[in-house]
Amino acid sequence: MQLSDQEKAMLDGSWGEPVRMFMNMLVTLGNIYGAERLIPVQSAHASGLSVRTMGKAGIEWAEDLARDGAKVSVPTTVNVIGIDRTRDLGLKREWTEQQKRIMRAYEAMGCYITSSCVPYYQGFIPRFREHTAWGESSAVVFVNSVLGARNNREGGPSTLASAVTGRTPYYGLHLSENRKGSLLCIVETKLADLSDFGALGAFTAAHAGSGIPVFEGVAPPSLENLVSLGASLASSGSVAMYHMLGVTPEALDARAALGSSTYDSIVFGERELAEYRAKISTGVEPDVDFVALGCPHCSLNQLAEIARLLDGKRIKDRVTLWVQTNVSVRELARQLGYVKTIEQAGGVVTQDLCVVLSRPEDLGFKSLATNSAKMAFYAPGSNKIPTWYGSLQQCLDAAVSGRWHG
Ligand code: F3S
Repeated sequence: MQLSDQEKAMLDGSWGEPVRMFMNMLVTLGNIYGAERLIPVQSAHASGLSVRTMGKAGIEWAEDLARDGAKVSVPTTVNVIGIDRTRDLGLKREWTEQQKRIMRAYEAMGCYITSSCVPYYQGFIPRFREHTAWGESSAVVFVNSVLGARNNREGGPSTLASAVTGRTPYYGLHLSENRKGSLLCIVETKLADLSDFGALGAFTAAHAGSGIPVFEGVAPPSLENLVSLGASLASSGSVAMYHMLGVTPEALDARAALGSSTYDSIVFGERELAEYRAKISTGVEPDVDFVALGCPHCSLNQLAEIARLLDGKRIKDRVTLWVQTNVSVRELARQLGYVKTIEQAGGVVTQDLCVVLSRPEDLGFKSLATNSAKMAFYAPGSNKIPTWYGSLQQCLDAAVSGRWHG
Protein backbone atom coordinates (compact mmCIF):
# COMPACT_ATOMS: atom_id res chain seq x y z
CA MET A 1 0.00 0.00 0.00
CA GLN A 2 1.34 3.44 -0.89
CA LEU A 3 1.57 5.79 2.08
CA SER A 4 2.48 9.48 2.17
CA ASP A 5 5.37 10.62 4.37
CA GLN A 6 2.86 11.85 6.92
CA GLU A 7 1.06 8.52 6.95
CA LYS A 8 4.37 6.69 7.33
CA ALA A 9 5.17 8.87 10.33
CA MET A 10 1.77 8.07 11.80
CA LEU A 11 2.48 4.37 11.30
CA ASP A 12 5.95 4.44 12.85
CA GLY A 13 4.65 5.94 16.10
CA SER A 14 5.91 9.53 15.63
CA TRP A 15 2.35 10.79 16.26
CA GLY A 16 1.89 8.77 19.44
CA GLU A 17 0.65 5.30 20.25
CA PRO A 18 -3.11 5.75 19.57
CA VAL A 19 -2.43 7.12 16.07
CA ARG A 20 0.08 4.31 15.40
CA MET A 21 -2.39 1.66 16.49
CA PHE A 22 -5.24 3.09 14.42
CA MET A 23 -3.04 3.65 11.36
CA ASN A 24 -1.88 0.05 11.63
CA MET A 25 -5.53 -1.05 11.76
CA LEU A 26 -6.42 0.89 8.60
CA VAL A 27 -3.35 -0.29 6.69
CA THR A 28 -4.18 -3.89 7.63
CA LEU A 29 -7.76 -3.42 6.48
CA GLY A 30 -6.60 -1.77 3.28
CA ASN A 31 -4.25 -4.67 2.54
CA ILE A 32 -7.04 -7.20 3.14
CA TYR A 33 -9.35 -5.38 0.70
CA GLY A 34 -6.65 -4.58 -1.86
CA ALA A 35 -6.65 -0.80 -1.39
CA GLU A 36 -3.75 0.95 -3.14
CA ARG A 37 -3.72 3.87 -0.73
CA LEU A 38 -5.51 5.75 2.00
CA ILE A 39 -7.74 8.76 1.34
CA PRO A 40 -8.78 11.64 3.60
CA VAL A 41 -12.27 11.54 5.10
CA GLN A 42 -14.28 14.66 5.84
CA SER A 43 -16.22 13.26 8.78
CA ALA A 44 -16.77 10.13 10.85
CA HIS A 45 -19.70 8.65 12.74
CA ALA A 46 -18.41 6.39 15.48
CA SER A 47 -20.58 3.33 16.08
CA GLY A 48 -20.56 0.40 18.47
CA LEU A 49 -20.67 2.49 21.66
CA SER A 50 -23.23 0.52 23.60
CA VAL A 51 -22.42 -1.70 26.57
CA ARG A 52 -24.06 -4.55 24.66
CA THR A 53 -21.60 -4.06 21.78
CA MET A 54 -18.44 -3.19 23.71
CA GLY A 55 -18.58 -5.36 26.79
CA LYS A 56 -16.19 -4.86 29.70
CA ALA A 57 -13.04 -5.19 27.58
CA GLY A 58 -14.32 -2.64 25.06
CA ILE A 59 -15.12 -0.12 27.78
CA GLU A 60 -11.60 -0.38 29.17
CA TRP A 61 -10.18 -0.10 25.63
CA ALA A 62 -12.05 3.18 25.07
CA GLU A 63 -10.97 4.53 28.45
CA ASP A 64 -7.34 3.60 27.81
CA LEU A 65 -7.46 5.37 24.45
CA ALA A 66 -8.85 8.53 26.04
CA ARG A 67 -6.23 8.34 28.80
CA ASP A 68 -3.45 7.89 26.21
CA GLY A 69 -4.53 11.10 24.48
CA ALA A 70 -6.37 9.79 21.42
CA LYS A 71 -8.16 12.70 19.71
CA VAL A 72 -10.37 12.79 16.65
CA SER A 73 -9.04 14.88 13.76
CA VAL A 74 -12.27 15.28 11.75
CA PRO A 75 -15.82 16.15 12.88
CA THR A 76 -17.03 12.96 14.56
CA THR A 77 -20.54 12.23 15.71
CA VAL A 78 -21.46 9.16 17.77
CA ASN A 79 -24.15 6.55 17.40
CA VAL A 80 -27.03 5.63 19.67
CA ILE A 81 -26.50 4.05 23.07
CA GLY A 82 -28.42 1.83 25.48
CA ILE A 83 -29.67 4.56 27.83
CA ASP A 84 -31.26 7.98 27.80
CA ARG A 85 -28.67 10.17 29.54
CA THR A 86 -31.33 12.56 30.83
CA ARG A 87 -34.02 10.31 32.34
CA ASP A 88 -34.34 7.19 34.40
CA LEU A 89 -36.15 4.53 32.38
CA GLY A 90 -35.75 1.92 35.11
CA LEU A 91 -32.72 0.28 33.52
CA LYS A 92 -30.16 -1.38 35.79
CA ARG A 93 -27.83 1.06 37.53
CA GLU A 94 -24.65 -0.88 36.72
CA TRP A 95 -25.56 -0.97 33.03
CA THR A 96 -26.30 2.76 33.07
CA GLU A 97 -22.97 3.56 34.75
CA GLN A 98 -21.04 1.45 32.24
CA GLN A 99 -22.75 3.27 29.38
CA LYS A 100 -21.84 6.64 30.90
CA ARG A 101 -18.19 5.58 31.14
CA ILE A 102 -18.16 4.89 27.40
CA MET A 103 -19.69 8.27 26.65
CA ARG A 104 -17.13 10.06 28.84
CA ALA A 105 -14.29 8.32 27.00
CA TYR A 106 -15.61 9.28 23.54
CA GLU A 107 -16.27 12.83 24.68
CA ALA A 108 -12.69 13.06 25.97
CA MET A 109 -11.50 11.99 22.51
CA GLY A 110 -13.30 15.00 21.03
CA CYS A 111 -16.43 13.36 19.60
CA TYR A 112 -19.70 15.24 19.43
CA ILE A 113 -22.01 13.33 21.76
CA THR A 114 -24.93 13.34 19.34
CA SER A 115 -25.95 9.76 20.29
CA SER A 116 -28.11 9.13 17.27
CA CYS A 117 -28.32 6.88 14.25
CA VAL A 118 -29.55 9.85 12.18
CA PRO A 119 -26.80 12.48 12.55
CA TYR A 120 -28.07 14.01 9.30
CA TYR A 121 -31.15 15.17 11.27
CA GLN A 122 -28.73 16.99 13.55
CA GLY A 123 -27.00 19.00 10.83
CA PHE A 124 -24.18 16.60 9.92
CA ILE A 125 -24.75 16.17 6.20
CA PRO A 126 -21.94 14.90 3.95
CA ARG A 127 -21.85 16.38 0.46
CA PHE A 128 -22.15 14.58 -2.88
CA ARG A 129 -18.97 12.58 -3.66
CA GLU A 130 -17.40 13.38 -0.29
CA HIS A 131 -15.54 10.48 1.37
CA THR A 132 -16.68 9.67 4.90
CA ALA A 133 -16.16 6.98 7.53
CA TRP A 134 -19.55 6.51 9.11
CA GLY A 135 -20.60 3.47 11.05
CA GLU A 136 -24.23 2.50 11.74
CA SER A 137 -25.51 0.49 8.82
CA SER A 138 -28.72 2.50 8.27
CA ALA A 139 -26.76 5.76 8.17
CA VAL A 140 -24.26 4.24 5.72
CA VAL A 141 -27.07 3.40 3.29
CA PHE A 142 -28.49 6.91 3.64
CA VAL A 143 -25.13 8.57 3.05
CA ASN A 144 -24.40 6.53 -0.09
CA SER A 145 -27.88 6.41 -1.57
CA VAL A 146 -29.60 9.68 -0.71
CA LEU A 147 -26.66 12.06 -0.31
CA GLY A 148 -24.29 10.46 -2.83
CA ALA A 149 -21.34 10.65 -0.45
CA ARG A 150 -19.00 7.63 -0.36
CA ASN A 151 -18.82 5.30 2.59
CA ASN A 152 -18.11 1.60 3.15
CA ARG A 153 -19.89 -0.48 5.76
CA GLU A 154 -17.63 0.19 8.73
CA GLY A 155 -17.31 -1.40 12.15
CA GLY A 156 -16.96 0.54 15.40
CA PRO A 157 -13.14 0.33 15.68
CA SER A 158 -12.56 1.33 12.03
CA THR A 159 -14.79 4.41 12.37
CA LEU A 160 -12.76 5.53 15.37
CA ALA A 161 -9.54 4.75 13.51
CA SER A 162 -10.66 7.02 10.66
CA ALA A 163 -11.86 9.67 13.08
CA VAL A 164 -8.43 9.83 14.73
CA THR A 165 -6.23 9.52 11.63
CA GLY A 166 -8.55 11.33 9.19
CA ARG A 167 -8.05 8.50 6.68
CA THR A 168 -9.78 5.46 5.27
CA PRO A 169 -8.57 2.77 2.83
CA TYR A 170 -9.56 3.53 -0.77
CA TYR A 171 -11.64 0.52 -1.77
CA GLY A 172 -15.24 -0.63 -2.09
CA LEU A 173 -17.88 2.09 -2.34
CA HIS A 174 -15.25 4.84 -2.39
CA LEU A 175 -14.55 3.83 -6.00
CA SER A 176 -16.99 4.86 -8.77
CA GLU A 177 -16.80 1.48 -10.50
CA ASN A 178 -18.10 -0.28 -7.39
CA ARG A 179 -21.19 1.90 -7.07
CA LYS A 180 -23.18 0.48 -9.97
CA GLY A 181 -26.48 -1.30 -9.48
CA SER A 182 -26.63 -5.08 -9.76
CA LEU A 183 -30.34 -5.82 -9.38
CA LEU A 184 -33.38 -3.96 -10.73
CA CYS A 185 -36.34 -3.90 -8.33
CA ILE A 186 -39.54 -2.83 -10.08
CA VAL A 187 -42.08 -1.59 -7.55
CA GLU A 188 -45.62 -2.13 -8.79
CA THR A 189 -47.59 -1.34 -5.65
CA LYS A 190 -48.35 1.80 -3.71
CA LEU A 191 -46.19 2.25 -0.61
CA ALA A 192 -48.46 3.98 1.88
CA ASP A 193 -46.55 3.96 5.13
CA LEU A 194 -43.07 3.77 6.61
CA SER A 195 -43.67 0.07 7.34
CA ASP A 196 -44.35 -0.56 3.64
CA PHE A 197 -40.89 0.81 2.88
CA GLY A 198 -39.51 -1.49 5.59
CA ALA A 199 -41.19 -4.45 3.88
CA LEU A 200 -39.75 -3.37 0.51
CA GLY A 201 -36.30 -3.26 2.11
CA ALA A 202 -36.62 -6.74 3.61
CA PHE A 203 -37.87 -8.21 0.32
CA THR A 204 -35.10 -6.59 -1.70
CA ALA A 205 -32.35 -7.51 0.76
CA ALA A 206 -33.40 -11.16 0.51
CA HIS A 207 -32.59 -11.03 -3.22
CA ALA A 208 -29.72 -8.53 -3.36
CA GLY A 209 -27.19 -10.10 -0.96
CA SER A 210 -24.48 -7.49 -0.58
CA GLY A 211 -25.19 -6.10 -4.06
CA ILE A 212 -26.66 -2.72 -5.01
CA PRO A 213 -30.37 -2.69 -5.86
CA VAL A 214 -31.88 -0.13 -8.21
CA PHE A 215 -35.49 0.85 -7.45
CA GLU A 216 -37.84 1.85 -10.22
CA GLY A 217 -41.50 2.82 -9.89
CA VAL A 218 -41.46 4.33 -6.40
CA ALA A 219 -43.56 7.51 -6.13
CA PRO A 220 -41.49 10.40 -4.67
CA PRO A 221 -40.86 9.22 -1.08
CA SER A 222 -40.49 11.31 2.07
CA LEU A 223 -37.10 11.51 3.72
CA GLU A 224 -38.40 9.36 6.58
CA ASN A 225 -39.51 6.64 4.16
CA LEU A 226 -36.05 6.60 2.60
CA VAL A 227 -34.51 6.28 6.04
CA SER A 228 -36.82 3.34 6.80
CA LEU A 229 -35.99 1.65 3.51
CA GLY A 230 -32.25 1.97 4.11
CA ALA A 231 -32.45 0.66 7.67
CA SER A 232 -34.41 -2.37 6.52
CA LEU A 233 -32.05 -3.09 3.61
CA ALA A 234 -29.04 -2.92 5.90
CA SER A 235 -30.47 -5.02 8.72
CA SER A 236 -32.37 -7.71 6.81
CA GLY A 237 -29.37 -8.13 4.51
CA SER A 238 -26.00 -6.47 4.06
CA VAL A 239 -26.87 -3.80 1.53
CA ALA A 240 -24.77 -0.64 1.90
CA MET A 241 -26.19 1.33 -1.00
CA TYR A 242 -29.15 1.48 -3.35
CA HIS A 243 -30.07 3.60 -6.31
CA MET A 244 -33.51 5.10 -6.59
CA LEU A 245 -34.35 6.91 -9.77
CA GLY A 246 -35.11 10.53 -8.93
CA VAL A 247 -33.44 10.28 -5.52
CA THR A 248 -29.86 9.00 -5.73
CA PRO A 249 -27.65 11.73 -7.23
CA GLU A 250 -25.77 9.17 -9.36
CA ALA A 251 -28.98 7.56 -10.67
CA LEU A 252 -29.89 9.97 -13.45
CA ASP A 253 -31.62 7.11 -15.26
CA ALA A 254 -31.76 3.31 -15.07
CA ARG A 255 -28.84 2.93 -17.46
CA ALA A 256 -26.60 5.19 -15.36
CA ALA A 257 -27.59 3.37 -12.19
CA LEU A 258 -27.08 -0.16 -13.54
CA GLY A 259 -23.54 -1.12 -14.31
CA SER A 260 -24.18 -3.20 -17.40
CA SER A 261 -26.94 -4.26 -19.76
CA THR A 262 -27.19 -7.65 -18.05
CA TYR A 263 -28.76 -7.69 -14.62
CA ASP A 264 -31.38 -9.61 -12.66
CA SER A 265 -34.73 -8.06 -11.92
CA ILE A 266 -37.41 -8.63 -9.32
CA VAL A 267 -40.94 -7.28 -8.94
CA PHE A 268 -42.42 -6.01 -5.68
CA GLY A 269 -46.20 -6.02 -5.96
CA GLU A 270 -49.16 -6.26 -3.61
CA ARG A 271 -48.56 -9.94 -2.93
CA GLU A 272 -44.91 -9.40 -1.94
CA LEU A 273 -45.87 -6.42 0.22
CA ALA A 274 -48.40 -8.47 2.20
CA GLU A 275 -46.03 -11.45 2.42
CA TYR A 276 -43.10 -9.44 3.80
CA ARG A 277 -45.19 -7.36 6.20
CA ALA A 278 -46.38 -10.65 7.68
CA LYS A 279 -42.91 -12.22 7.59
CA ILE A 280 -41.30 -9.42 9.60
CA SER A 281 -43.87 -9.81 12.40
CA THR A 282 -42.97 -12.37 15.06
CA GLY A 283 -45.65 -11.41 17.60
CA VAL A 284 -47.51 -14.29 19.22
CA GLU A 285 -49.80 -12.98 21.95
CA PRO A 286 -52.25 -10.25 20.88
CA ASP A 287 -51.70 -8.50 24.23
CA VAL A 288 -49.03 -5.81 23.83
CA ASP A 289 -47.18 -4.25 26.79
CA PHE A 290 -44.44 -2.33 24.96
CA VAL A 291 -44.59 -0.07 21.91
CA ALA A 292 -41.37 1.44 20.52
CA LEU A 293 -41.23 3.96 17.68
CA GLY A 294 -38.33 5.89 16.21
CA CYS A 295 -35.97 3.30 14.77
CA PRO A 296 -34.06 4.96 13.15
CA HIS A 297 -34.56 7.95 15.46
CA CYS A 298 -37.65 10.07 14.73
CA SER A 299 -37.47 13.24 12.70
CA LEU A 300 -39.39 16.34 13.79
CA ASN A 301 -42.09 15.51 11.22
CA GLN A 302 -42.55 12.07 12.75
CA LEU A 303 -42.84 13.49 16.26
CA ALA A 304 -45.42 16.00 14.99
CA GLU A 305 -47.42 13.16 13.45
CA ILE A 306 -47.26 11.00 16.58
CA ALA A 307 -48.36 13.97 18.71
CA ARG A 308 -51.26 14.66 16.34
CA LEU A 309 -52.42 11.02 16.46
CA LEU A 310 -52.13 10.84 20.27
CA ASP A 311 -53.71 14.21 21.02
CA GLY A 312 -56.49 13.65 23.59
CA LYS A 313 -55.81 9.88 23.78
CA ARG A 314 -54.50 7.84 26.71
CA ILE A 315 -51.96 5.00 26.56
CA LYS A 316 -53.26 1.91 28.38
CA ASP A 317 -51.95 1.71 31.96
CA ARG A 318 -50.00 -1.52 31.56
CA VAL A 319 -48.42 -0.43 28.23
CA THR A 320 -45.12 1.45 27.90
CA LEU A 321 -44.63 3.66 24.84
CA TRP A 322 -41.11 4.85 24.03
CA VAL A 323 -40.68 7.25 21.15
CA GLN A 324 -36.99 7.42 20.27
CA THR A 325 -35.21 10.47 18.93
CA ASN A 326 -32.02 12.42 19.58
CA VAL A 327 -31.22 15.39 21.79
CA SER A 328 -31.45 17.97 18.98
CA VAL A 329 -34.78 16.89 17.52
CA ARG A 330 -36.26 16.29 20.98
CA GLU A 331 -35.44 19.82 22.11
CA LEU A 332 -37.13 21.32 19.05
CA ALA A 333 -40.11 19.02 19.54
CA ARG A 334 -40.26 20.08 23.18
CA GLN A 335 -40.34 23.75 22.21
CA LEU A 336 -43.11 23.05 19.70
CA GLY A 337 -45.24 21.18 22.24
CA TYR A 338 -45.06 17.71 20.61
CA VAL A 339 -43.23 16.14 23.56
CA LYS A 340 -45.84 17.47 25.99
CA THR A 341 -48.72 16.06 23.92
CA ILE A 342 -47.08 12.63 23.66
CA GLU A 343 -46.20 12.58 27.36
CA GLN A 344 -49.70 13.75 28.39
CA ALA A 345 -50.99 10.68 26.56
CA GLY A 346 -48.67 8.54 28.68
CA GLY A 347 -45.76 8.03 26.27
CA VAL A 348 -42.08 8.87 26.85
CA VAL A 349 -40.01 10.70 24.26
CA THR A 350 -36.45 9.47 24.77
CA GLN A 351 -33.14 10.82 23.54
CA ASP A 352 -29.92 8.88 22.80
CA LEU A 353 -31.61 5.52 23.29
CA CYS A 354 -31.86 2.50 21.01
CA VAL A 355 -34.17 -0.21 22.30
CA VAL A 356 -32.22 -2.93 20.53
CA LEU A 357 -28.93 -1.83 22.15
CA SER A 358 -30.58 -1.36 25.53
CA ARG A 359 -32.02 -3.97 27.91
CA PRO A 360 -35.82 -3.55 27.83
CA GLU A 361 -36.03 -7.26 28.58
CA ASP A 362 -34.89 -6.43 32.15
CA LEU A 363 -38.13 -4.44 32.55
CA GLY A 364 -40.17 -7.58 31.95
CA PHE A 365 -41.80 -6.70 28.62
CA LYS A 366 -43.40 -9.67 26.92
CA SER A 367 -44.76 -8.31 23.64
CA LEU A 368 -43.42 -5.43 21.55
CA ALA A 369 -45.06 -3.52 18.69
CA THR A 370 -43.11 -1.33 16.28
CA ASN A 371 -43.30 0.22 12.83
CA SER A 372 -39.57 -0.35 12.28
CA ALA A 373 -38.48 -3.34 10.22
CA LYS A 374 -35.00 -3.01 11.71
CA MET A 375 -36.25 -3.20 15.28
CA ALA A 376 -38.63 -6.04 14.37
CA PHE A 377 -35.67 -7.85 12.85
CA TYR A 378 -33.34 -7.49 15.86
CA ALA A 379 -35.55 -7.27 18.98
CA PRO A 380 -36.70 -10.91 19.03
CA GLY A 381 -33.06 -12.09 19.05
CA SER A 382 -31.26 -9.32 20.97
CA ASN A 383 -33.98 -8.50 23.50
CA LYS A 384 -35.86 -11.81 23.43
CA ILE A 385 -39.18 -10.02 22.91
CA PRO A 386 -41.61 -11.25 20.21
CA THR A 387 -42.43 -8.27 18.01
CA TRP A 388 -45.48 -7.19 16.07
CA TYR A 389 -44.74 -5.17 12.96
CA GLY A 390 -47.15 -2.73 11.39
CA SER A 391 -48.05 0.85 10.54
CA LEU A 392 -47.72 3.81 12.89
CA GLN A 393 -51.49 3.83 13.32
CA GLN A 394 -51.53 0.12 14.23
CA CYS A 395 -48.75 0.67 16.79
CA LEU A 396 -50.51 3.62 18.41
CA ASP A 397 -53.81 1.70 18.47
CA ALA A 398 -51.93 -1.10 20.27
CA ALA A 399 -50.52 1.44 22.75
CA VAL A 400 -53.99 2.77 23.53
CA SER A 401 -55.87 -0.56 23.58
CA GLY A 402 -53.10 -2.91 24.76
CA ARG A 403 -54.00 -5.27 21.91
CA TRP A 404 -52.50 -5.89 18.48
CA HIS A 405 -54.99 -5.80 15.64
CA GLY A 406 -53.48 -7.24 12.49
FE1 F3S B 1 -31.08 3.25 15.24
FE2 F3S B 1 -31.07 1.30 17.01
FE3 F3S B 1 -32.88 1.37 15.20
S1 F3S B 1 -29.34 2.09 15.88
S2 F3S B 1 -31.83 2.25 13.43
S3 F3S B 1 -32.61 2.91 16.80
S4 F3S B 1 -31.89 -0.48 15.95
